[in-house]
Amino acid sequence: MSVTVRVPAKVNVQLAVGAARTDGFHDLANVFLAVGLYDEITVTPADELRVTCEGPDADQVPLDRTNLAARAAEALAERHGRSPDVHLHIAKDIPVAGGMAGGSADGAGALVACDALWGTGASRDELLEICAELGSDVPFSLVGGAALGIGRGEQLTPLEVGGTFQWVFAMAGRGLSTPAVFREFDRLGEGTDIPDPVASGELLAALAKGDPDALAAAVSNDLQPAALSLFPELAGTLAAGRAAGALTALVSGSGPTTAFLVRDPESAAAVAQALLASGTCRTVRTASGPAPGATVAAAG
Ligand code: C5P
Repeated sequence: MSVTVRVPAKVNVQLAVGAARTDGFHDLANVFLAVGLYDEITVTPADELRVTCEGPDADQVPLDRTNLAARAAEALAERHGRSPDVHLHIAKDIPVAGGMAGGSADGAGALVACDALWGTGASRDELLEICAELGSDVPFSLVGGAALGIGRGEQLTPLEVGGTFQWVFAMAGRGLSTPAVFREFDRLGEGTDIPDPVASGELLAALAKGDPDALAAAVSNDLQPAALSLFPELAGTLAAGRAAGALTALVSGSGPTTAFLVRDPESAAAVAQALLASGTCRTVRTASGPAPGATVAAAG
């Protein structure tokens, strides 16, 4: 018996960040779009909880109890009075420490997979509650599509999307730590008045219309200056993608993956090729969104 769950990556088309709260987190207006790059989490019964991982970045994935997939299995098991004795295997295609919610995807995927394997029958609300305990982006990995996240980003409202958006992603040669990027955001903003984060009406309208030009004009990421401050070479990647004809270029979440919105699959191929040729990134991928959230892909 085993269960495999497929979970998408995300790009933040808007990431508005408020001042640091007393609990260390920041209030956000976070517009998530799930895109078609996936991790697959397979869970099988085992003598004890263990995690394995395959994929190009597998050597950077922690295999101990700090892995969000392991923490998800433990959290669900504890709530249902059982042991979390499973083997969690992660087939990783989402970049590690890349600002695309790869770790969050594995947490949401393990939760859905364990729920199915164990026949726990947890409600959607219970799963979302566990996701929010695991991390700010984990609830979105569960639901996918497009959503506005407020609070830490975990309080979600699903958004209508009127079309498919084509993206190119440039993966960097190293990762960035999310807490470090938020700390840099705080440092850069010291002494300034940071407004409360609000979702952009233009951006939500562009998503609802499925209009890539309008979306390109409305995207924003308040963490981008902080990511660029810690990783200045990213400016060259953004410039290379813009020069190659991307409608817009931005850092994905806390980075360092950079995201390029393009009009159609042909321009995606051209921008991807130009980015690779520029030598400003490690690898490139194309993907479209919205993509569905955590979904059971195989069971038996
Ligand atoms: O929630 P998660 O564990 O993914 O957050 C990782 C880190 O990112 C937090 O410890 C915090 O430093 C930062 N963060 C934040 N405000 C948010 C979300 C994350 O400051 N809304």
